[in-house]
Amino acid sequence: AHPVIVAIDGPSGTGKSSTSKAVAARLGMGYLDTGAQYRAITWWMLSNGVDVNDPAAVAAVSGKPDIVSGTDPLAPTITVDGTDVAGPIRTPEVTGAVSAVSAVPAVRTRITELQRTIAADAPGGIVVEGRDIGTTVLPDADVKIFLTAAPEARAARRSGELKATGPGAPDLAATREALIKRDAADSGRKTSPLAKAGDATEMDTTELTLEQVISCVISVIEDAE
Ligand code: C5P
Repeated sequence: AHPVIVAIDGPSGTGKSSTSKAVAARLGMGYLDTGAQYRAITWWMLSNGVDVNDPAAVAAVSGKPDIVSGTDPLAPTITVDGTDVAGPIRTPEVTGAVSAVSAVPAVRTRITELQRTIAADAPGGIVVEGRDIGTTVLPDADVKIFLTAAPEARAARRSGELKATGPGAPDLAATREALIKRDAADSGRKTSPLAKAGDATEMDTTELTLEQVISCVISVIEDAE
């Protein structure tokens, strides 16, 4: 059998990252966080004074930063021009700008190419998480999962994650608002919006524990093999 490719898509706060990492680790597969790549290119734009609300300016320099993702699910890494940006890509500034940058077609073309190369080079298969993996990046993936959850549950999860980063984290209402705004932008953009692939298995994680979601995904993968 060829290496298994698993695409896990959905909006933020559905447990996508935690689930994808755990599934990859348990099945001995690689893991790719495509959101981290869009965050990394956004971080580079902000660091270099590029106006992220000017699509032409963003497109013009979209080929410049060298973005490298490490695919070990137990220790995923992301660098830009050799600098570790795992921390800086999670700031509210980057989170607030990433939807605008990721909507630029030249950015998507570039990052999509990177993603396809990484997936094709994963000897033990790979779990790739994002927004458009099942629809656009890897339409021939062996397994496609689309995670959803009620907005309240998603905001509560995101808020919990942000609190873990320390004092000064935004409150629940602000988090909920930012999350809904970002999902609307990601779902409404022209180029490969956040969407469920026709052949994806949808799971509503609102009432499920992380462990239940992980087991559910693993059984879908095992059924496909
Ligand atoms: O998953 P995460 O919240 O880190 O993703 C950050 C942003 O990157 C998303 O809000 C979206 O704008 C963009 N993204 C995307 N396509 C993907 C993954 C992420 O456009 N496959």
